[in-house]
Amino acid sequence: MQYQSPFADWYTYSTVHKQLPDFTCEPGLALFPPELVPGVGHPLVDKLGDHALRRLMMRKLESYNAFTEKLEYKAVMAASIKIAQNPQAFGLSEQAGREARLIVTDESHHAYVAIELIKQIPGFSELPPLTPSEPRFLRGLEELERGLPAELADDLLIAFVSISETLITSILRGIPRDRRVVSAVRNTVGDHCIDEARHHSYFVYVVHQHWASSTLDRREILGPLYAKLVRLFLDPDLDLCRAWLLEAGLDTHDAALVLQDYYSPERVAASVRADSFPTLKLMERVGVLDHPAARPAFVEQKLID
Ligand SMILES: [Fe+2]
Ligand SMILES: [Fe+2]
Repeated sequence: MQYQSPFADWYTYSTVHKQLPDFTCEPGLALFPPELVPGVGHPLVDKLGDHALRRLMMRKLESYNAFTEKLEYKAVMAASIKIAQNPQAFGLSEQAGREARLIVTDESHHAYVAIELIKQIPGFSELPPLTPSEPRFLRGLEELERGLPAELADDLLIAFVSISETLITSILRGIPRDRRVVSAVRNTVGDHCIDEARHHSYFVYVVHQHWASSTLDRREILGPLYAKLVRLFLDPDLDLCRAWLLEAGLDTHDAALVLQDYYSPERVAASVRADSFPTLKLMERVGVLDHPAARPAFVEQKLID
């Protein structure tokens, strides 16, 4: 596939070149779309009262921003630096390698804005810290890496980032236009989306080239790996959500009930399919789904029938 730079107008439209978003938090508006916060709307949680609801929303927003920061630093920037330093290893053009450095800049800015946003939300400074845990995706990547030949470690990272940069989550899709949500969050996510549209096109090219330039042996591993990486990125962090529900005032039994309802396997599978729709279409176009080892892995992960 020919590289067509999505960065021609980078100096004009990338958000690192504009003012920080307007961080206004209108009283009475939500910090996050309620249906995206586990437990909100559930009778067992509703009866805990408004304080508990607000706390759950704050935790969700906090974790979303902490996740964004870690994803940018530990995955997207790390992968983009590898691409910049050795584009040929993944079948990429010299220009694509050079322009990967612009993604490093964008992502560093997103991490900065994500943390600035948290600081601006009224009440966040009084929030007690939850026991910090490594994000699920990092633990998952380490585990997958242990099962792979050492020379494929970079391919794993590039594949994971290709997935995370090509799928479009319900958060990115919905929040910028959601009038129920405070301006600070809508503007921050909206700005992020502007840059991510450019990254999306870039990583469509990366997936094409990474796959096309792979030997048969590498495809054998890469194909099924893509399926696992979609789930690794999109599956909920149940331990973290349980901690929020307990903190909000539920006992262990009720927290388990709420999680079972909110994250039933059918509901999780449906939302994973919706969020990964563009990536699954891409996998089809590139030919990954025609690979005899890959297709069954996508079926097993309930991404396709
Ligand atoms: Fe980003
Ligand atoms: Fe990105």
